[in-house]
Amino acid sequence: MAHSIVIFGASGDLTSRKLIPALYSLFKKKRLPADTRVVGFSRSPFTNESWRASLTETTKKFSDGDFDEATWNEFAKGIYYHAGDIEAQADFDSLATLLQEVDCAKSCTRVYYLATAPHLYATAVSRLGSAGLASEETGPRRVVIEKPFGTDLKSARSLNEDVHRVFREHQVYRIDHYLGKETVQNLLVLRFANSIFEPLWNRNYVDHVQITVAEEVAVGSRGAYYEQSGVVRDMLQNHLLQLLMITAMEAPARFEADLVRDEKVKVLRAIRRSQPAVLAQETLRGQYQGYRQEKGVPADSQVATFAAVKLQIDNWRWKGVPFYLRSGKEMSCRTTQIVIKFREPPHSLFELDGDGDGKMSSNQLVIQVQPAEGIQLEFLTKVPDAGMQVRMTDLDFRFRREFAGQLPDAYQRLLLDAFNGEASLFARSDEVEEAWSIVDPILACWNSDLAPPLHFYAPGEWGPSEATEWMRAQGRDWFDVCPVIG
Ligand code: BG6
Repeated sequence: MAHSIVIFGASGDLTSRKLIPALYSLFKKKRLPADTRVVGFSRSPFTNESWRASLTETTKKFSDGDFDEATWNEFAKGIYYHAGDIEAQADFDSLATLLQEVDCAKSCTRVYYLATAPHLYATAVSRLGSAGLASEETGPRRVVIEKPFGTDLKSARSLNEDVHRVFREHQVYRIDHYLGKETVQNLLVLRFANSIFEPLWNRNYVDHVQITVAEEVAVGSRGAYYEQSGVVRDMLQNHLLQLLMITAMEAPARFEADLVRDEKVKVLRAIRRSQPAVLAQETLRGQYQGYRQEKGVPADSQVATFAAVKLQIDNWRWKGVPFYLRSGKEMSCRTTQIVIKFREPPHSLFELDGDGDGKMSSNQLVIQVQPAEGIQLEFLTKVPDAGMQVRMTDLDFRFRREFAGQLPDAYQRLLLDAFNGEASLFARSDEVEEAWSIVDPILACWNSDLAPPLHFYAPGEWGPSEATEWMRAQGRDWFDVCPVIG
């Protein structure tokens, strides 16, 4: 069946940096039918030819050395552009006519990708409905919705209602590109395809879990957007909670969209909703020095560019095991990592050697999500020729050593899944709403008299020093280690 994708927000950054290079790579790998059509929709005055020309340049730049002129030319024959305004129904009606001509004379699978400004999502969906473009008479019709899905629980609910007026839930694909990352999917494999980890993956053996998404980049030119989102809406509500769900969920009976998402939602439901006074103690907010000088940021901005949050999952597996989540911009290095810190042995017989920090360290499993994709298991080993002194050593698995070739960009997997109707790696309506119901009280606390102080940190640090002290006060240490790539 012919495939087509209509991209709203076609002249935007996401389209040229991620979506088109991902579609082109899929086409090159022959994962998409030869007659795949891509239709761009935005207000910019491109023609088919000028949009193709512009995408030729950007794809060369963003396809990581994967660009092949002849294959691109073949792919580009299926690229069309429709100049239009999301507010104008007539532009959707003419889009419907164009689509009829280019992709779907008989039957086709069609994906509508909303890569536009989020406040336009509801309008775009409603116009698609009015133009008859949501009807599945001649094949599947799916809508992919970028983040942010709402700005709080109320707006997410309202957006879900707007979307459900036109599309049924099985047609809706809410994207979180973290789920498209190979290493995040591999976490499911690590946990549920191996038998040695799962017996230890619970409160009996795990002391705590750390999930860190540290970024080296600053907010830069995105100041106006960031002022509205801050780190909590930009990273915590979506990417970090997704990582938490995959780490903490029970095994689904089968790898099927609803079974996987049922288990993920159960984790969110089990997260303790704490009172503001508790949240004030269990969350920490920071801002990098220099943020207030970014374009579009007021000189007295209170927006957090760093957050650390302690969450408790009140269920049989995790009761009493804190999950520490943190994320920030302008940090020491770019690293996304999940650390499963195991309990100390009940009684220690041996001494750490002089290179240790004097404490008997416990085992940990470090899942390197990016950029040094891999897994390390740390355990104590006898130092040779040093009596019975022991030292932490590790088993070190790296994707790049084990498998040839580059890891594909997350958007490749997710776009392919959207074409194929595989929704396991997309968020369901209840999942998004539950995630907001965890984050809303944190934001409310931060906007109240109980708000924890905003700590400033120098670029290139692991966030504010108070985050280190906060962790130490709980008898723990952050895993502040920049990954070694190679
Ligand atoms: C986006 C955020 O969703 O994720 C950005 O809006 C952030 O602020 C980005 O930089 C991080 O994604 P990745 O894949 O580079 O870790």
